[in-house]
Amino acid sequence: MGRDRLHTELIAGLDIGSSAVRIAVGQFTSSKESRSNLQIIGAVSVAAEGVQKGQITSIEDTVSCVSQALEHIEKMIGVPIEHVWVGVSGNQIIVQESKGVIAVSRTTGEIAPEDIERAVDAAKAISTPLNYEILHVLPRSFAVDGQTGIKDPVGMTGIRLEVDTKIIYSVSSHIKNLTKVIYRAGVDIDDFVLSILAAGYVVTNGRQKDLGCVVINIGGPTTSIVVYEDGDVLHSAVIPIGSAHITNDLALGLRVSIDIAERLKTQYGECVSKDISKKEVVDLLDVGSDKSEVVTRYYIAQIIEARVAEILEKIDEELVRIERSGILPAGAIFVGSGSKISGLVDSAKEGLSLPAQLGYPLGVDSIIDKVNDIAFAPAVGLVKWGSFSSQNTRRHLSFSLKGKVGEKVKGIFKSLVP
Ligand SMILES: Nc1ncnc2c1ncn2[C@@H]1O[C@H](COP(=O)(O)OP(=O)(O)OP(=O)(O)O)[C@@H](O)[C@H]1O
Ligand SMILES: [Mg+2]
Repeated sequence: MGRDRLHTELIAGLDIGSSAVRIAVGQFTSSKESRSNLQIIGAVSVAAEGVQKGQITSIEDTVSCVSQALEHIEKMIGVPIEHVWVGVSGNQIIVQESKGVIAVSRTTGEIAPEDIERAVDAAKAISTPLNYEILHVLPRSFAVDGQTGIKDPVGMTGIRLEVDTKIIYSVSSHIKNLTKVIYRAGVDIDDFVLSILAAGYVVTNGRQKDLGCVVINIGGPTTSIVVYEDGDVLHSAVIPIGSAHITNDLALGLRVSIDIAERLKTQYGECVSKDISKKEVVDLLDVGSDKSEVVTRYYIAQIIEARVAEILEKIDEELVRIERSGILPAGAIFVGSGSKISGLVDSAKEGLSLPAQLGYPLGVDSIIDKVNDIAFAPAVGLVKWGSFSSQNTRRHLSFSLKGKVGEKVKGIFKSLVP
């Protein structure tokens, strides 16, 4: 009887962005007979307040947005949310390489999972930049007695185990503020995950990650990227320019308010100007202005095109830094609301000299439309990340804050919860 019982567990992903707070909730169902299945059962978004440039600028406002989003989702799914996987964005992350070396513990020389953990711990023993803390330690490859390029050394025999890792740091104050916000909103924290890693995890398949690809999240004030190769994270970076800059450019270029500029961008914007007839005009009355004034769509597109080209250039600069400019066979995959600008995929093919596409969640089932909204990739990604991590306690996607700083901070802030 027990064998047939379904194991179900709710996994929630919370993505606090500068424009919106988004939550996705999934249910992982597995039975002995069928393959595991992740089903997204709810997704909501609430306009963000108290977050600027990915940083929390008002705890009170952010708590109220997160609480509102939690209320909405609980109404939607009919069950309370008790804990969440939290996405970390913001423009202050540092990526560093570090090597860990240990002697294999067993006398037989057979490498055990504990050895992997010790090697990863050894990699962490480098000096952490001031005011930063480790968010992820991503093992890239291992070497056993000098033989390099090993992906999974468990069960192999040797004396010396080395691991090459990427360590991702986030500003400590940001993690502390996020922790405070989430506890005040009355939920527990499963763990913190860099938003772009969560997004990348759900919109790419193993083959794309093996071949090499870059996942790009164009948000409001920032654009974040993660590059994969040989199945692992090769690089990640945050560029302090995003779609909000396009809105500002339109406001300045056309001398209109931010609200009108925003509507022009989302309703009439396009980032390839050459395709637009110079005769096509938009009356500002149609986008909320109180007086009639016409602007050409061509001019709007030119303004957008210039900023999109700059964003693409900055992304390419990151690819140049890791010697992958124009040579990632699985191309660029775009997520985030900013990527909804019409013509982006074509611009990116040209600007990055790579294949390009929009990124949709893979390996999740749902009847909820929002799941296929590219804006929800980080939230849905957090759910998939969470479901994987809770099933694979030993083989984490990364070795992260959980049980370390997270627990400590949790302890401090838990006492603040009413
Ligand atoms: N249809 C659309 N076309 C073009 N841009 C859009 C569209 N819809 C939303 N945007 C822009 O996307 C941006 C917000 O993106 P998103 O919601 O992914 O950001 P965020 O996650 O809140 O911010 P961040 O991750 O940078 O902190 C805004 O600048 C908004 O104007
Ligand atoms: Mg975002």
